[in-house]
Amino acid sequence: MTSSPTAAARTEGEAAPTVPTQVESGTAQRPGLAREMVAILDFGSQYSELIARRIRETRVYSEVLSYQTPIAEIRHLAPKGIILSGGPNSVYEAYAPQCDPALWELGIPILGVCYGMQLMVQQLGGVVGRAERAEYGKASLFINDPTDLFTNVEDGTTMWMSHADSVLRMPEGFELLAHTENTPCAAIAHHSRHLYGVQFHPEVVHSRGGMALLRNFVYHICGCEPEWTTAAFIEEAIREVRARVGDKRVLLALSGGVDSSTLAFLLHRAIGDNLTCMFIDQGFMRKNEPERLVKLFKEQFHIPVAYVDATERFIVRLEGVSDPEQKRKIIGDEFIRVFESESLRLGPFDYLAQGTLYPDIIESAGENIDPKTGERVAVKIKSHHNVGGLPENLRFKLVEPLKRLFKDEVRQVGRALGLPEEIVQRQPFPGPGLAIRVLGELTKDKVDILREADFILRQEVNRSGRYNDYWQSFAVLLPVKTVGVMGDRRTYAYALALRFVTSEDGMTADWARVPYDLLEQIANRIVNEVPGINRVVLDITSKPPGTIEWE
Ligand code: XMP
Repeated sequence: MTSSPTAAARTEGEAAPTVPTQVESGTAQRPGLAREMVAILDFGSQYSELIARRIRETRVYSEVLSYQTPIAEIRHLAPKGIILSGGPNSVYEAYAPQCDPALWELGIPILGVCYGMQLMVQQLGGVVGRAERAEYGKASLFINDPTDLFTNVEDGTTMWMSHADSVLRMPEGFELLAHTENTPCAAIAHHSRHLYGVQFHPEVVHSRGGMALLRNFVYHICGCEPEWTTAAFIEEAIREVRARVGDKRVLLALSGGVDSSTLAFLLHRAIGDNLTCMFIDQGFMRKNEPERLVKLFKEQFHIPVAYVDATERFIVRLEGVSDPEQKRKIIGDEFIRVFESESLRLGPFDYLAQGTLYPDIIESAGENIDPKTGERVAVKIKSHHNVGGLPENLRFKLVEPLKRLFKDEVRQVGRALGLPEEIVQRQPFPGPGLAIRVLGELTKDKVDILREADFILRQEVNRSGRYNDYWQSFAVLLPVKTVGVMGDRRTYAYALALRFVTSEDGMTADWARVPYDLLEQIANRIVNEVPGINRVVLDITSKPPGTIEWE
């Protein structure tokens, strides 16, 4: 994910900058080759995005829209199917989010999930109320009607439940499709109106028959074709970029992460030498990475990269700074300055390419309604911030060809374009780099110590074959010196923390259960080989309450 280098930017992903632009609208238009799409109406569920990803796994294009999207716009988008997401509210609360009842009359197949199903039931004259027994977690689903939505779904399959409300009476014309021990109406349908509802969450990984059910919905009930493929996306994106950019010049700030690298490949294929890739080295990259990146791009991919050595400028401003926010702010400001002067030197450019991804532009998701006041409460912290402050004359037009993709789709596109696995599978690395992993007062020496320790950690993790098991694996240099003994000598040196986490998207994370042998090997080597460190400790905090990075 592209993220900003500014003070406040604690976003997942990599280090490419985000710069103010003449933002263009047009989220409603869909990629040309995806003629068909399934719309997800989001009622505030944490799973709305996941539903869209699952639908796309069936090779059908899908987008998340706010539940408030006007019916005229939905008609205009002409989705082949609509899925109503779950949500944190109860449908019978005063301010529960509603949908326009005209939705039921569109003639488009609709699948309501959890809250979505309950809303359908309530608006069509059925009854929803407190369940006799709330159901959370896995439940066995018993199928009453094995046709249609449940074709090829095994009777007794596991589905994942999370509800305190239930359908107490179905609306007229609806039939029962499935039940569980605690939930009599676990799936219902009005066949002739193509309206379906499920109380469970077919999108989550614990729902064993979930994908089969979603496939039935998109293929058999909505009549979609599996046309959303990587190859089709690439072809269309290249065509669109060419049409938009023409023979104008495009600037791309490369970070070495999967998003900006994929973007570079795609744009280079589309516009060749009219693309200029710029890599700003702020001095906080991992050992050997800047050299490796530039060499890979130049020699192997034949995509020229303008390498900007800004290491001196950054460290001069950061020496002695210890406040985390201050560090980020200085790095952000300095980045903009370097970016500004270098883009003028290399330019002029008409367009700036950005690796914005789909989760960055979903606006509707994550809004929650307070049932008492009816006010909307943000439950998802926006992970994308723009940097203010670039002078007027540097306002670029944007090219964002990845903005409809999820991260896993970007990886597929990168792979299909020939990006090597070492970049496709690269763990996220924060924009400010090692600077926010040297805790307390920053000095060049400390950054160098950390860089060596980080290098050993990476070597050992790679050697163990476990690199891809972790969302991130890294080291943090602590501002604490402790006493040790080496040979007959007393030492007094820094302590280093190891951080290994697993995560789906960086929003939440768990500490990884790393094998002791691997930890031992890393700790031994670091203490023996890195002067300045004499103790290694392990961070076993999940997120929340911790964060992944320490600063
Ligand atoms: P936290 O520490 O907030 O991190 O749990 C979540 C994810 O975001 C990454 N991160 C950053 N990425 N610029 C970035 O590009 C930043 O300033 C930044 N801070 C944190 C972090 O590595 C993790 O993947």
